[in-house]
Amino acid sequence: MWRYPKVLAHRGGGTLAPENTMAGLRRGMDAGFRAVEYDVMLARDGVPVVMHDPFLGRTVPGAGHVHDYDALELAAMDAGGWFGAAFEGEPVPLFVEFAQYCKAHGVWMNIELKPAPGYEMETGGTVARIAAAMFAEELAAGKLAQAPLLSSFSHDALLSAREVAPQLPRACLMSELPPDWERRAREVEAAAIHVNHRHLRPQQAHEVKAAGFGLFCYTVNEAARARELLDWGVDAFCTDRIDLIGPDFS
Ligand code: G3P
Ligand code: MG
Repeated sequence: MWRYPKVLAHRGGGTLAPENTMAGLRRGMDAGFRAVEYDVMLARDGVPVVMHDPFLGRTVPGAGHVHDYDALELAAMDAGGWFGAAFEGEPVPLFVEFAQYCKAHGVWMNIELKPAPGYEMETGGTVARIAAAMFAEELAAGKLAQAPLLSSFSHDALLSAREVAPQLPRACLMSELPPDWERRAREVEAAAIHVNHRHLRPQQAHEVKAAGFGLFCYTVNEAARARELLDWGVDAFCTDRIDLIGPDFS
């Protein structure tokens, strides 16, 4: 069952602002979004930061891996200049700050665990522990629709998240559904399956829903395709084109 919003702004503000930054998040909110997907990984000191690539060079100038730097070093780097001069100096957000801002402004979160290779368990455990503490009251009160959903391509990250915070919902991210998708989903007690819409077939959508899971697609940037997926029974999706597909899309 899917208890969350139907349309999520991908990486904060989609392709209309630098991804995974506070400016991106605010851009999404300006477009009316109150649901967001973003990526989280661990810095060298084990502190989670909001970033997609496991290395510097694309969204942040420099070289090496995210895991070669402490979180405060990353937070002093420019994650906005690559997108445009107006965003120069936009920092790499600390996960805690980003999540607290979302919570304070009623923005629901799909937190994607993006572990650097070798840090799968640590990433899943750390982020789950922090998120569960942040939403302890909501979880205790059974307000599950407000708690974030942790998703990951990494099975180990999800296993670790389940271990640390079983009460926090999880989702299996899969580019395309493998034959053993249901076994994998049950192993981590997933609430939902997140797939690349390009590989999804209507019959698979039906199977996932019939098995009782929520079904989410990434990253849908055309309205006609979004409509088709919703017709297939897809519960929700994220989009880069927050200018074309609004939060109330149906
Ligand atoms: O969580 C859905 C989607 O964000 C997965 O792919 O590479 O954009 O993080 P990516
Ligand atoms: Mg992502």
